[in-house]
Amino acid sequence: MRHLTSIRELTRESAIALLDNAQELAQVGDREVKKLPALRGKTVVNLFFENSTRTRISFEIAAKRLSADVINVSAESSSVSKGESLKDTAQTLEALGADAIVLRHPMSGAPKILAAQGWTKASIVNAGDGSHEHPTQALLDALTLRQVAASSTDLAGLRVLIVGDILHSRVARSNILLLNLLGANVEICGPEALVPSGIEELGASISHSFDQALERNPDAVMMLRIQKERMDGSYFESPAAYGRDWSLNSERLSKLRLNTKILHPGPMNRGLEISAEAADDSRSLVLRQVANGVAVRMAVLHNCLSSGGES
Ligand code: CP
Repeated sequence: MRHLTSIRELTRESAIALLDNAQELAQVGDREVKKLPALRGKTVVNLFFENSTRTRISFEIAAKRLSADVINVSAESSSVSKGESLKDTAQTLEALGADAIVLRHPMSGAPKILAAQGWTKASIVNAGDGSHEHPTQALLDALTLRQVAASSTDLAGLRVLIVGDILHSRVARSNILLLNLLGANVEICGPEALVPSGIEELGASISHSFDQALERNPDAVMMLRIQKERMDGSYFESPAAYGRDWSLNSERLSKLRLNTKILHPGPMNRGLEISAEAADDSRSLVLRQVANGVAVRMAVLHNCLSSGGES
């Protein structure tokens, strides 16, 4: 593949190949194997129009572990703040030698437009676009689940419950698509106002009671951050009311089976959608998700920059 803008660009086979590759690359960075020369001479630009900790830093580490040069650009510190367009920014970055542009953008579809318009020859990797998709997050979540699942290939039969603010979640959309591709069963659970109509068409059942969903004993519960910054305030009025119905709190944690895994893409609102006790529980895979982000992003960058220009 030359670009990765959506999970829809992957087949089951190509997704499994990326996960296999990431599993192998997870060893790079260990004491004995610090770096691979695979992307020596390539330049990766992290172009972030929204804040990020995990995604930006792990793309940087991933590129460096493959010996690429890395430049980090944030919108506030670039000429974007003077009104420069995405097209002109991308073409400027290409003129400066960018082979890949890792793009986080508030507009849904921005990476796809950049890849499809042919404005730049650089590979485009979506690092999260609006409420649309976050494909590398879904890949790292799948890798994390695969490491604890019965199968070392796909996630066939795994029952994953995704809870909370689905409406604004690019993580949820990419996860529904990828989990389906890998054979998992996905249930989406959230308040009616935060579950968009039609999302079931991506491949998920929908429910509106967290407590009832937990009684169905999912294999994994993925909690989502409530994205107050994308709300106008009309829905989210009371953290206490949200927490009562939608938090993975101590009481709900005590009802989880011993082998049910807890995921959260981060950043977590501790005490809101997830209690500190749940976030730090032995069943929580949150930090393993973060660590797997480096390996998955290495696999994606390597695949995009070694494709010889195929789309
Ligand atoms: N999960 C995620 O995208 O986190 P960041 O916003 O910190 O990159």
